[in-house]
Amino acid sequence: AAGDDVRPPQLRHTIEKIGVVGTGTMASGIVQVFAQAGYDVVFVGRSPEKVDGVVAGITRSLDKAIAKGRSDEETKAAVLGRLTGTTSRENLADADLVVEGIAEDLDIKTELFKDLDRITKAGAILATTTSSMPITELAKVTSRPGDVIGMHFFNPAPVMKLVEVVTTDLTSPEVDETVRALSAAVKKVPVSCGDRSGFIVNALLFPYLNDAVKLHEAGVAMDEIDATIKETAGFPMGPFELLDVVGNDVSLAIQSELRNEFGEPGFDPAALLIQKVQEGKLGRKTGEGFHTY
Ligand code: 3HC
Repeated sequence: AAGDDVRPPQLRHTIEKIGVVGTGTMASGIVQVFAQAGYDVVFVGRSPEKVDGVVAGITRSLDKAIAKGRSDEETKAAVLGRLTGTTSRENLADADLVVEGIAEDLDIKTELFKDLDRITKAGAILATTTSSMPITELAKVTSRPGDVIGMHFFNPAPVMKLVEVVTTDLTSPEVDETVRALSAAVKKVPVSCGDRSGFIVNALLFPYLNDAVKLHEAGVAMDEIDATIKETAGFPMGPFELLDVVGNDVSLAIQSELRNEFGEPGFDPAALLIQKVQEGKLGRKTGEGFHTY
């Protein structure tokens, strides 16, 4: 409306060094996003092998970009040179902002936020890329709830433009503005969301994905569903292809959280989705999910 402040968000904090906790698909993609945008990134894994895996994955991605003529060796060396992998969270002490991308489990994240609160310097922003956990609960276990925020990236993070910036009732306006400005600075498009289960995208996307599995259980072929959605609805991937990208374990966790939060019986996770997780068929990351890779 007339008179609205249309000034783009500004970095209200100095952000030079970024920490990332986790070595899975999302964390690894987020490390890559920040390093490619010129930030020094310290990332924490549970083992040296997992730490090495992140560097190997980013190296592969950069090599692919070089092979396609979209990057060069100099850029690759610069990006890799900004990465510091570690198995000790204590190395996050001087980070200006930490993004957490570990398991979608409230107990595990709660323990991490208590630890980050102890380790990181005063004024450091503590962000989570959770897709369905209540961020307010994480904020409350810290001594700095105003500095806790959601920064929800999408998979694959280096490609997907959207970042849902999730503020709780406790998040300070300066932290919100800084994270929106930072998202834009790393060439993403921030969208502001409240702390409601699934935010915007997942609240709509996962019931659809779950329903696709139920439709398949009712006898419709997976390939037919995938092809129909791609060819007629204009989605880049069909639901089974996308479930395999996101990971069936992650999808089940999100759908279960939506079911608990909204109490909607129609949101019950599909039996076949549960079965895939039990069988360890998690998607591309394990070589098999709904499709085989
Ligand atoms: N890392 C880095 N770059 C990647 C990549 C990755 N993991 N995957 C693909 N790319 C790059 C490719 O190198 C290519 O780059 P180029 O244009 O410079 O050559 C570009 O992305 C396009 O890739 P491809 O040509 O291989 O394949 P597509 O054109 O089919 O695109 C896709 C792949 C971008 C994954 C596309 O299929 C897509 O958008 N799929 C839908 C993804 C989606 O909906 N994600 C959201 C999931 S929900 C979520 O994440 C929520 C969370 O809470 C779980």
